[in-house]
Amino acid sequence: MSSDYGYFKEKILALTGFDLHSYKEKQIRRRLGTLMQSLGVDNFRAYYEILKKEPQHLERFFQRATINVSEFFRNPERFRELQETHLPALLARKGRPRVWSAGTSTGEEAYTLAIILSEAIPHYSGIILATDVDQEALQFAQEGIYPPGRLRHLPPGHLEKYFLAAGENYQIKDKIKSRVRFKRHDLLRGPFGRGFDLILCRNVVIYFTEEAKDKIYRGFTQALNPGGILFTGATEQIFASRDLGLINLSPFFYQKN
Ligand SMILES: C[S@@+](CC[C@H](N)C(=O)[O-])C[C@H]1O[C@@H](n2cnc3c(N)ncnc32)[C@H](O)[C@@H]1O
Repeated sequence: MSSDYGYFKEKILALTGFDLHSYKEKQIRRRLGTLMQSLGVDNFRAYYEILKKEPQHLERFFQRATINVSEFFRNPERFRELQETHLPALLARKGRPRVWSAGTSTGEEAYTLAIILSEAIPHYSGIILATDVDQEALQFAQEGIYPPGRLRHLPPGHLEKYFLAAGENYQIKDKIKSRVRFKRHDLLRGPFGRGFDLILCRNVVIYFTEEAKDKIYRGFTQALNPGGILFTGATEQIFASRDLGLINLSPFFYQKN
């Protein structure tokens, strides 16, 4: 079974360019296991044959392998810290910061940033880059329609100000939507350009091996301008931040020297 998985990883890389070697094996096996069961296969070779012959199953494979859970103002106390402490300092240095939401999933994080920047800068007209490897998640993000549960941490007044009712769901208003550009990008292939002042990469690297994590964080450091900030997820402290050339401002905020 384990060489089966080795074969699968190589074949998927050749077929799609997606590198499973960098993901924690146990998690991927568990997540794909249920999907394989539903297709009536019990080994990775047979599963690969299905993916090769019936590309429609590839979408579900991507969805299962990469987890898409997100919400607006995820860990609200951290976004408050960003708004009250780090963003004002950043804006004092640079009026129009370049911002990237990496592993943005279904768009909540990128739109949260657009809301925060609109609150901080009157007539905000910058563009936030939002990337993910999962095309389906990006399509959802582009539509911008969310069930109420994803909005539970919105600060008071923001629902009325930034959303329109859409049946039982809520649609992000165009003035926020137009501030975000969604693009497909695989973080394992390096950063999406350079010259960023703020990068968010939250709840993404938890699925990666230590080696892949290190590579991704090094990429972010290269992509940041001096003084730029990396904002990580609530369980994703970078212990070797100094080696990367990052100053630890507080547990989940890092600044490039
Ligand atoms: C749990 S979501 C995090 C969403 C958001 N950042 C948040 O904290 O709410 C993890 C996202 O990482 C994306 N992801 C996984 N591997 C990736 C890769 N190699 N490159 C880019 N995105 C990736 C997944 O597709 C998924 O949308």
